[in-house]
Amino acid sequence: MLIENKVVVVTGANRGLGRALVGELLRRGAAKVYAAARREETLASLVEAHGARVVPLALDVTRPESIAQAAEKASDVNVLVNNAGLLASYGILSSSLASIRDDFEVNAFGLLATTKAFVPALERAVKRGEAPAVINVLSVASLANMPSLGGYSASKAAASSMSQAIRWELAKLGIQVFASYPGPIDTEMVKALEMPKTSAEAVAKSLLEAVAADVLDAAPDPTGAQFLATFEREPAALAKTFGAMSG
Ligand SMILES: NC(=O)c1ccc[n+]([C@@H]2O[C@H](COP(=O)([O-])OP(=O)(O)OC[C@H]3O[C@@H](n4cnc5c(N)ncnc54)[C@H](OP(=O)(O)O)[C@@H]3O)[C@@H](O)[C@H]2O)c1
Repeated sequence: MLIENKVVVVTGANRGLGRALVGELLRRGAAKVYAAARREETLASLVEAHGARVVPLALDVTRPESIAQAAEKASDVNVLVNNAGLLASYGILSSSLASIRDDFEVNAFGLLATTKAFVPALERAVKRGEAPAVINVLSVASLANMPSLGGYSASKAAASSMSQAIRWELAKLGIQVFASYPGPIDTEMVKALEMPKTSAEAVAKSLLEAVAADVLDAAPDPTGAQFLATFEREPAALAKTFGAMSG
């Protein structure tokens, strides 16, 4: 899918991978990027860095009224990037149910609710011949459960399953759905975890390269690519690998 001239919404755009995706989308010729964040004031430096092609958009993916308002404001969109994410829960038995629910609210239901709200805009884009798409940022932890992040991992698996269902439903309308499965990225989310990480900028570049090459399922970093290859060859082996990594 060509990024050039597209009008894109990126959720969770104020920091981390979302922020890097905004820069990379602009570099690839996007006409306009709605940078969505829970608190609009956190987008000031992004707008300052990129100018008028970045439009700040208030969007909390767990709040229906916020989602509806954002979809109304960004009614000319033809690409939705579901990037917003939360890592609140770790071990599935040691984490509180509340923190696991929080991860599901953002990572799974947030992705679904945001997609549902933007479908009418994407359908209008089909009619205009704009080849619309949804890009879902999932995780290697979607592919098999990573017990050290058991709650988060379950929420990202739910997001991946939803993404598959969304792909088949939107294909009938002429809307493509891309899924990305990153390994560890050097962002706030995993700053406490000591492991090799890929920069958000490198992940954003590789993620959009896969989209430009029409690869529907891809891993945007070397660790992610290794785990995705294992999963595609032998899913049960990946679950064992992740189990062993968690001690
Ligand atoms: N970092 C990794 O190792 C890694 C690996 C694989 C996949 N991922 C995925 O990559 C995506 C981006 O994560 P990141 O690494 O860039 O993490 P990050 O730096 O923690 O950024 C998370 C972003 O999501 C936003 N967000 C959280 N809750 C939200 C809500 N209710 N509504 C709207 N936005 C919300 C945050 O906004 P606030 O600033 O308002 O909190 C922030 O912009 C996530 O989907 C994550 O699961 C990350």
